[in-house]
Amino acid sequence: MKRIGVLTSGGDCPGMNPAIRAVVRDGIEAGLEVVGFLRGYVGLIDNNFKVLNSNDVSGIIQRGGTILLTSRCEEFKTDAGIKKGKENLEKNNIDGLVVIGGDGSIHGAAALADMGVKVVALPGSIDNDIYGTDNSLGVDTALNNIVDAVDKIKDTASSHERTFIIEVMGRECGYLAISSAVATGADALIVPEVAFDFEAIATRFRKRYQEGKTSNIILVAEGADNAYHVGRELKKIAGIESKITVLGHLQRGGSPTFFDRLLGARLGAGAVEALLKGESGKMVGIKDRETELTDFEKVLKNKRPVPKRLLELAEKLSR
Ligand code: ADP
Ligand code: F6P
Repeated sequence: MKRIGVLTSGGDCPGMNPAIRAVVRDGIEAGLEVVGFLRGYVGLIDNNFKVLNSNDVSGIIQRGGTILLTSRCEEFKTDAGIKKGKENLEKNNIDGLVVIGGDGSIHGAAALADMGVKVVALPGSIDNDIYGTDNSLGVDTALNNIVDAVDKIKDTASSHERTFIIEVMGRECGYLAISSAVATGADALIVPEVAFDFEAIATRFRKRYQEGKTSNIILVAEGADNAYHVGRELKKIAGIESKITVLGHLQRGGSPTFFDRLLGARLGAGAVEALLKGESGKMVGIKDRETELTDFEKVLKNKRPVPKRLLELAEKLSR
């Protein structure tokens, strides 16, 4: 193996830059040339890449997002698109590829592996729903962003004795909402993992109001409901007025935390090591503090549910 490529695909997340930096620096250290494809699979199809040297990744470890840019690429979901990608890799003598992205991007990597490309993936998604790793890149930073925002909202919520409904990301998984509910002391939780009942929330709030609790925070995972809908329902069912904040993409931005920098560095180096050992079709994760490889098939077949006890704790502590 002499030349490898790296790309970031799907939703960006803090920690992608530290991972790119590690792939480049560790690759060069091992005698490889490293190239970066721009805009994920779009760059692979368009043959748009640049050689990355040590200086190209200098000063990026503290930056959120991805210096390689990212995108979603419908063409890559077709056989013709994947074939173009494979041909470009061959044409440029690129012997191995590192894909950094979420579940969808790993599907793309698996399609390349099926065509015989040597490819490994790194889990990058704030949703923390990827099987085969304890944490995905960006989760810790996103959670710190959420905690910071909710703390600020709590100041004004308590001063005005108001109820706030705060919507957080998580397309199909409530991990962000559940774990940040524990860390912020939220008063109610609406997530895809449990059936929710507006009536029950309203009854609890009324009881707590009589006991002297005059402000509330409800955390809603976007995959479960829409904060504006929750607000309308609470008004309709119980006459509860609320203020709405959708945290949106600010959750995904900002300087990666210590945890995400370290994770990015370890995963990036793990990817280079795996390719050099001749591994392919695998995701590099970290489980129980050790780097671990998991077959794409297993990663993609398995769901990574929110731990039951964490969910129970979130519910218990919000009552
Ligand atoms: P994420 O990687 O963050 O989960 P997406 O689900 O949007 O984001 O996927 C990112 C990209 O991965 C898609 O735009 C597409 O190019 C590629 N991709 C997703 N699913 C497949 C698939 N089944 N086959 C090939 N490529 C795929
Ligand atoms: O998968 C990561 C994620 O941030 C989800 O939590 C969210 O639903 C989605 O990406 C948003 O994607 P987009 O960047 O297309 O708005």
